[in-house]
Amino acid sequence: MTIVAIWCRHIGDNVIGAGSGLPWKIPSDTRRFRELTEGKIKVMGRRTYEGMPQKVLMGKKLIVLDIENSCEVFDKENHIVVDNADKLENYPEDLYISGGASVYAKFFTTPSIMPDIVVDCVYQGEIAPEMKDLINVGKSVEVLEEKYFALPQRFELDNVITTVWLKKGDFVEQSVVKSILAYLENQGE
Ligand SMILES: NC(=O)c1ccc[n+]([C@@H]2O[C@H](COP(=O)([O-])OP(=O)(O)OC[C@H]3O[C@@H](n4cnc5c(N)ncnc54)[C@H](OP(=O)(O)O)[C@@H]3O)[C@@H](O)[C@H]2O)c1
Repeated sequence: MTIVAIWCRHIGDNVIGAGSGLPWKIPSDTRRFRELTEGKIKVMGRRTYEGMPQKVLMGKKLIVLDIENSCEVFDKENHIVVDNADKLENYPEDLYISGGASVYAKFFTTPSIMPDIVVDCVYQGEIAPEMKDLINVGKSVEVLEEKYFALPQRFELDNVITTVWLKKGDFVEQSVVKSILAYLENQGE
C-alpha cells in the first residue's frame, strides 16, 4: 500500500483553508486534485467532507474520518466512515490523504501511516483579506521538511508550484511516483 498526501498550501504561512472552504478559487488546482485522485481512495476529515460540494464526491470512493462516528454519508455505496485513522495501517489499497489540517497532522505525525509521497502544491498569490478563520498545515510542513526530500522537478501552473516529496530512507513504490510525475508534466494540456 502506498499513502499519498496531496494539498494546496499558501506560500509562507501554509494556509490551506478558510472556515469550511478554500481561501482561493483556482480551477486548475481543483482539476489537478480531481485528476490525480481519480479512481483512488481518498481519505478526508469530516469537516472537509461536509465542506465539499456533494456532486464532486458523489460516486467517488472515499473514507471519512470521524472520531464521533456521527457523520451521515450521502453516498452509502462509496463512502465509509472510520473513527480512527490508525485503523488504516496496512489498508489493502493505496490511499490519497486529502485533508483537512487535522487529518494531515495525524498522518504526518504517526509513523505507521505516514505518507510515502507528498504532492505539495504551493499557491504563490495573495489570500483575499476578507478570508476569515484561516487554517494552516504548518505542523505537517515541519515534518515534510525534516523527513522527506523533494524531487528536482517543479511544475508551475496558474501561480501554483507543485513539487513531489518522498519519505527519506523508505522504499517508495516507483510506479506511483512515475504516474504522478507523468500527470504533472502534462497538466494543463
Ligand atoms: N487546500 C487544501 O489542499 C485543502 C484540502 C482539504 C481541506 N482543506 C481545508 O481544510 C479545512 C478543514 O480542516 P480541519 O482540520 O478543520 O478539518 P478536517 O481535518 O477536514 O476534519 C476534522 C474532523 O475529522 C475527524 N478527525 C480528525 N482526525 C481524526 C482521526 N485521527 N481519526 C478519526 N477522525 C478524525 C474529526 O471529526 P469529528 O469531530 O466528527 O470526530 C475532526 O473534527 C477546510 O478549510 C478545508 O477547506 C484544504
